[in-house]
Parts: sequence; structure tokens; C-alpha cells
Amino acid sequence: MITSRVSGKIILFGEHAVVYGQPALAVPVNQVFAEAEVLDSPRAGIWINAPDIGFHEKLSRIAPENPLATVVEAVFAELGISLPPSVLRTSPPEGGEKDGIEIKVTSTIPIASGLGSGAAVSVAIIRALSSYLGNPLDDEKVNKIAYEAEKIHHGTPSGIDNTVVTYGKPIFFIKDQPIELLNVAKAFTIIIADTGISAPTKQSVADVRKLWEKNPQKINALFAAAGSIARTARQSIEGGHPERLGALMNENQRILREIGVSCRELDHLTEASLRSGASGAKLSGGGRGGNMIALSTKENAPAIAEALLNAGAKNVVVTEIK
Ligand code: MEV
Repeated sequence: MITSRVSGKIILFGEHAVVYGQPALAVPVNQVFAEAEVLDSPRAGIWINAPDIGFHEKLSRIAPENPLATVVEAVFAELGISLPPSVLRTSPPEGGEKDGIEIKVTSTIPIASGLGSGAAVSVAIIRALSSYLGNPLDDEKVNKIAYEAEKIHHGTPSGIDNTVVTYGKPIFFIKDQPIELLNVAKAFTIIIADTGISAPTKQSVADVRKLWEKNPQKINALFAAAGSIARTARQSIEGGHPERLGALMNENQRILREIGVSCRELDHLTEASLRSGASGAKLSGGGRGGNMIALSTKENAPAIAEALLNAGAKNVVVTEIK
């Protein structure tokens, strides 16, 4: 049996603008993770079992646009394996020999919450399956396959989600450019709070595109401002001044509101965190639901977490970025 565990993620700065070529910052969140387990199965064929979502199906019966099926098939293609005869056999051989594969996927990352659940599940499957098949893929190939699945989840993704979960390190990301790791000079504390509302990322990304098509000048200026916030944030993080990130988060949130991807619940939680001592707060990910993040000192984090729960957050995670 082969197992792979992959952490979730948050975007610190630059969501949406990153789809248009602006830089963004993302970090892994180890408190939540996806796991894939690949094992021999007495049943013929390749089976995908995702008990969290009540899904258990044979690959050959899954619709081709399913992201789980896409990553499984892409791993075989990348390894140059046309699906092995033993796996395709329809009836088990004499003597009950093991001739199938079971891929079991579980995840503690809430789905559609901006925490990278889809990308982490993909990466976990790609790693576990390629190892099971005797040829573990390197990060670059894992990332490339996970990006294909992201296109099914999100339409026109920048690639930031699959990249941060593949490398499992803080990143400074620009679409279609070599990945740059962020050097966190001084650790800082982020509180992540869930609105409990499913974030419709594909729809939000599509709506932002419509807005951009209607008024490219104005929206490009907002994206450029978000890009410049991300660059300044990188300097603050790498220069050992994470306390400067709060004001930058507030500025980024103003832009996200202006492009229409915040919502009442996200605004409510960001305000509650600021009132209880956070120095900055914003939505994280696609928005219109999902999670928000707040910057805090380590000492104030428990009080802010409690204030967020009192304000209606469905779940709160405190994480140290280092
Ligand atoms: C989603 O986590 C982040 C977005 O910027 C979309 C993307 O980058 O693909 C909203």
C-alpha cells in the first residue's frame, strides 16, 4: 500500500489578479490535508473510492470530465503505461489472484472553501499512484498533471493552487513563469475563518472576466494595484517585517470588494477580526464564500479566533507561517 499526504493552502495576496499575469503569494496550511492510498484490490479494474463524498466507482464508468478520473488517466499516460491488461480484465483470474487497484481518497480540507481541496486531492492521487506503479513522478510533472485537473475545477486557473500544494512551501507566483519560493525571514500568525458558504470559484473567475471585458482599463488598474501589493508583501516577508502585511491585506480586500468577489459574510468576518485586534484581514481564494484570513500576533490569536467564531465563522484555524 502506498500513501501520500498533501497539505491545503491559502492565498495571502493577489487572487484573481493572478489569473491576469499579476504576482500572488500563497502558503501551505498543514492543519488540513488530503490523503490518497493506493492498494491492490481483489476486484478487477481501477476503483476510485472517496468515502467523504460518498463516491465509489470504477474508472471505466466515470465521466471523462471528472477531475479524479482525469488525474488517474494522466498518470498512466505520463508514465507511458497503456492501462495494464490485469487492470482491464473484466473477471478475476483463477485462484483469486489480486488484479485490480483501489485508490482511496480522504481529505480534511473543506470542499470549495478556498483552501485548495481540489488541487491537494489531485496531487495526493498523482504521487501515490505513480509511486505504486513504481515510478514516482517529480514535482514538475505532478504539478503539470494537477493543473489539468484544476482546469476542470476552475475553468481558467492561474495554476497557483496546484503549484503551492505540489511544492508545499510559501511561493511567489506569476502565471506561466518559473516558480519562486518565498523566504519567510520572520514567522507570523494567520487566522483562517470559514464562512461555511461554498465558494463558487469557477463562477467568480468567469464574472471577473466579464467585468474586465466590459471595462479593461479600470480593472487592469485594480489588478496592477493588487500586483504591486503582492510585491510589497514579498519584500515585507523576506525583509523580516511581517507586521507590515496587515495594511496590505486591508488594501487588497478593498480591491477584491471592488471587483465583486467579496460577500456580506466575508465582510462581516473581516470586520469582526479587525475589531478584535487583527491588524489586517481579507478574503482568501475565489471569494463569495469560503475562507477569510486575518493577521495577528501570536498572543492575540486565541481572542481573535474566538471573536470570529462568535461572529458566525463555521471553523477557525490558527496557522504559523514560516
Ligand atoms: C483560487 O484559489 C484563486 C483564483 O485566483 C483563481 C486562480 O488563480 O486560478 C481566484
